[in-house]
Amino acid sequence: MKTFKRYTVTAALPYANGPLHIGHIAGCYLPADIYVRYLRSKGRDVVFICGSDEHGVPITIRARKENITPQQVVDKYHNQMKQTFEEMGIAFSIYSRTSSPVHHKTASDIFMKLYNKGIFQESVTEQYYDEKVGQFLADRYITGTCPNCGNPNAYGDQCEKCGTSLSPLDLKNPVSALSGEKPVLRETKNWFLPLDKLQPQIEAYINKHSDWKPNVFGQCKSWLSQGLQPRAMTRDLDWGVKVPLKGAENKVLYVWFDAPIGYISATKELTKDWEKYWKDEDTRLIHFIGKDNIVFHCIIFPSVLMCDGDYILPDNVPANEFLNLEGEKISTSRNWAVWVHEYLLDFPGKQDVMRYALCANAPEAKDNDFTWKDFQARNNNELVAILGNFVHRTQVLTWKYFDGKIPHAEAYEKSDLFVMEELSRFPQKIADSIETFHFREALSELMNLARMGNKYLADNEPWKAITHNPKRVQTVLNISQQICANLAVLMKPFMPFTSDKLSKLLNVAPLNWDAAGKATMLPDGHKLSEATMLFERIEDETVQKQVDKLHASKTVSETTKTVAPSKNTIAFEDFEKMDLRVGTIVNAEKVSGADKLLKLTVNTGIDTRTVVSGIAKYYKPEQIIGKQVCLLVNLTPRKLRGIESQGMILMAENADGELIFVSPVKTETDNGAIVK
Ligand code: 2FM
Ligand code: ZN
Repeated sequence: MKTFKRYTVTAALPYANGPLHIGHIAGCYLPADIYVRYLRSKGRDVVFICGSDEHGVPITIRARKENITPQQVVDKYHNQMKQTFEEMGIAFSIYSRTSSPVHHKTASDIFMKLYNKGIFQESVTEQYYDEKVGQFLADRYITGTCPNCGNPNAYGDQCEKCGTSLSPLDLKNPVSALSGEKPVLRETKNWFLPLDKLQPQIEAYINKHSDWKPNVFGQCKSWLSQGLQPRAMTRDLDWGVKVPLKGAENKVLYVWFDAPIGYISATKELTKDWEKYWKDEDTRLIHFIGKDNIVFHCIIFPSVLMCDGDYILPDNVPANEFLNLEGEKISTSRNWAVWVHEYLLDFPGKQDVMRYALCANAPEAKDNDFTWKDFQARNNNELVAILGNFVHRTQVLTWKYFDGKIPHAEAYEKSDLFVMEELSRFPQKIADSIETFHFREALSELMNLARMGNKYLADNEPWKAITHNPKRVQTVLNISQQICANLAVLMKPFMPFTSDKLSKLLNVAPLNWDAAGKATMLPDGHKLSEATMLFERIEDETVQKQVDKLHASKTVSETTKTVAPSKNTIAFEDFEKMDLRVGTIVNAEKVSGADKLLKLTVNTGIDTRTVVSGIAKYYKPEQIIGKQVCLLVNLTPRKLRGIESQGMILMAENADGELIFVSPVKTETDNGAIVK
């Protein structure tokens, strides 16, 4: 593998249109920060670039909603996000913003360079136009049904449900997000990046990176196999970087043209030496993003860079999947989110607990769920009971028996040599996982080191040995303290605040990665600082309060604000006529020619039967095989598309109009259990 002289690491520029939630942190900022902190600890030359994305429709839509100007929106949220990142310990080299003059000039210059090279295709095309508001409807100004997955709330540029990149004309039943009116088509001129012509170069570039995460490489291959289409790099809008061409006064650059260039502009702001971070083949460029940004970072931005010709291309794009919250998609509009600035107020000094919980449960390979119960368990059962407990016992015993001074290790027994040998392997093991973007695995190795320390103490029982073999206790506590010193170094990328706290307890200056692995980090006689706890337990009522807050502040989306009125009262006997059972979906397949239907085979406990269900728009067959559901088993069978359906699965319609399973509350309930 090539060795690089330096690293340019970027984290997606978040839209400055709202506060940060934990999904943002878990999706890209925390993994990027862990990676960069590790590189810094290895003494590598690295710049860590981020900033606010202040253009695009998300900003102007928010301005309309809040009845303020787009400038006021970005000023408000840029400052808030910057502060939140700092408080969470996300240590960017620079957090800039795309409204900066340097950025406007950089984006404009790159556009002109491509224009002068004759790269763009200038075309007059029909675009949707809202006659009521008098405006063209680009990107998120238009919504409709996704042609790929049927999501009724897809945007003009992308469907967030299936990840497909779209053009407004692809949407079925398009509606203006400004007025709710049906738009009309009008002609307008724009400048297109000819991705169709660039396809062979892009394909060659992607094929060289088959080592990328499967979710990223797979998405790229799927777009390429569909054939790339020219994409407009300009928009008929007034908020953004002005198109630097005569006759284009009312147009701005496409936000996805200008935003990634923001990484370059921010590096220019950071250092006069910026070119070596962007133009030298010995620099490794890595973009940390969420999965909805894959096409822009793996195909569109590299195409722009290739066309420019002066820049290196991204060497890796380790995109994460999405984090859900308490079983539902995080949604800003429905206020279903844990807002990071609120977390920081509710849990002062506990940044690392959230960093730990989010990393341990990171959506690296698939979407994952954050629950407050899991957060509490990670804190109480892992941070307090394993890591905190080991460090505290070691400190307290050293104070008690040796007045807070590192005792001399008298003689090593076989078990000591074994522990020291194991200890020496941890830095490399953790580094290997970090370098390959397996942050969960890396964190779990770190905890294994603390586990090893606990077992070592438990096996040697220094609290008993002190009466008959104090020399043995010297060795055991010396080695335990060395493990603590190693933990302080190796935990720093994940839990920087706790690492500093532990370094203070050990009374040492923070050390670099390569100092770890040794059992000689603390010299004999070195005086410790007073023992204090690294973590404290989080009680049930604390997390319950958060769950209650989440539910209390949840808003119902605009589309379903009106809850359906209740139906007429029925007699208990009528209810009793329904035979509702718990069953397991043992097979699921598409029904040919019916894009809404899935044919399910359900083990009802009574028998195994076929149920045809109208959920194909919301679930892929492979997602639901093995799922326990509630179903009505005594509904008169009826034929759907020639298949006899013998029952009905219970579903709830959520605020976005999607169907969600009504599942037995306790998983692994017996099939056939009566629901009443
Ligand atoms: O999805 C988003 O939040 C975008 N603002 C990310 C932009 S990343 C980069 F290209 F700037
Ligand atoms: Zn879709």
